[in-house]
Amino acid sequence: MICIMSFILPIGSGKGGVGKTIFTANLGIMLAQSGKKTVLVDLDLGGSNLHTCLGIKNSNSGISAVINKQESSIEELIFETGVENLYFIPGDTLNPGTGNLPFFIKQKILKQLNKIDADFVILDLGAGSTYNTVDFFLVSSYGIIFTSPETTSVLNAYSFIKTAVFRMLFRSFKSKSAERDIIYNFVNSKIEGSGRSFTSDLINELTANSYMSGQLATQKIKEFHPWVIVNRAENQESVDLGLKLRDITRKNIGIDLDFLGALPEDREVQLSIFRRSPVALTHPDSVFIKSLGLIAAKLSSGEAFPQPELYLDDDDLLAIDDD
Ligand SMILES: Nc1ncnc2c1ncn2[C@@H]1O[C@H](COP(=O)(O)OP(=O)(O)OP(=O)(O)O)[C@@H](O)[C@H]1O
Ligand SMILES: [Mg+2]
Repeated sequence: MICIMSFILPIGSGKGGVGKTIFTANLGIMLAQSGKKTVLVDLDLGGSNLHTCLGIKNSNSGISAVINKQESSIEELIFETGVENLYFIPGDTLNPGTGNLPFFIKQKILKQLNKIDADFVILDLGAGSTYNTVDFFLVSSYGIIFTSPETTSVLNAYSFIKTAVFRMLFRSFKSKSAERDIIYNFVNSKIEGSGRSFTSDLINELTANSYMSGQLATQKIKEFHPWVIVNRAENQESVDLGLKLRDITRKNIGIDLDFLGALPEDREVQLSIFRRSPVALTHPDSVFIKSLGLIAAKLSSGEAFPQPELYLDDDDLLAIDDD
């Protein structure tokens, strides 16, 4: 059986206006230019503007057509961008007001996004930790959390990660289960600062209920590897903030958050919005695009994705040779 392996990269942030859409558009262009088939999806329903950052007119129907049942398949909504290997699925500019989605519609969208045949499918999400956004973020273990170096933005990024982890654990158990009650009560009563990681306390409570539940939660946490990017960085302090967010998240929440890199403040980025032409196309030598190139290369080479810790088994390898 041939398995289509595309990496889905959701881009989220606690605070709005930190550069997610600019990043999505330009990263998409760079991945496509390096030969990776890339599909950009505008999932900022209610505030779609990815087409503007890509510099294309949005006259095609988008995700809202699937939500409103005018279209049954997301595949039908994919269209070419003019950049080789780069495709785009619009959001809802033609049909605004799709900000609140029932869970089954989200599931339908996510199921179809998972089936897209591409190397990368990048989801530009709306800002904030509403369940709508967080559920889209959780479609992959490798989401990217965007922040600017402002304190409010970093704190909101931390809240976003915390909400995502609890939502991920909650959804790992069946509806109306005892485990969901434990997680719900834990989230609503826990005060930060006990010195231990949030998740280890919660896992203890889940394990006290059932050994298997504790094991499942431990496994889910181990598999969750989101990244953080600090955008509009101006100096080393901005970079250090990203590292600090990583360290605090690891210590307090107990997940393996990694720092994917920093992107500098660059006036060319602002000008690109007025020009309606992405900076990756007009100014490939700009500092923003040079730094983005490092991130794109990490993603493109697969180096950023943790490899499973498996030992080789000589017997198995010999058995493969025999076939
Ligand atoms: N590295 C940068 N240098 C300079 N300006 C930037 C940079 N990144 C983003 N900006 C500015 O920030 C603005 C907001 O960016 P963008 O729309 O990508 O944010 P967003 O996180 O997608 O916002 P929202 O949450 O509203 O969707 C851009 O219009 C641009 O002017
Ligand atoms: Mg945006």
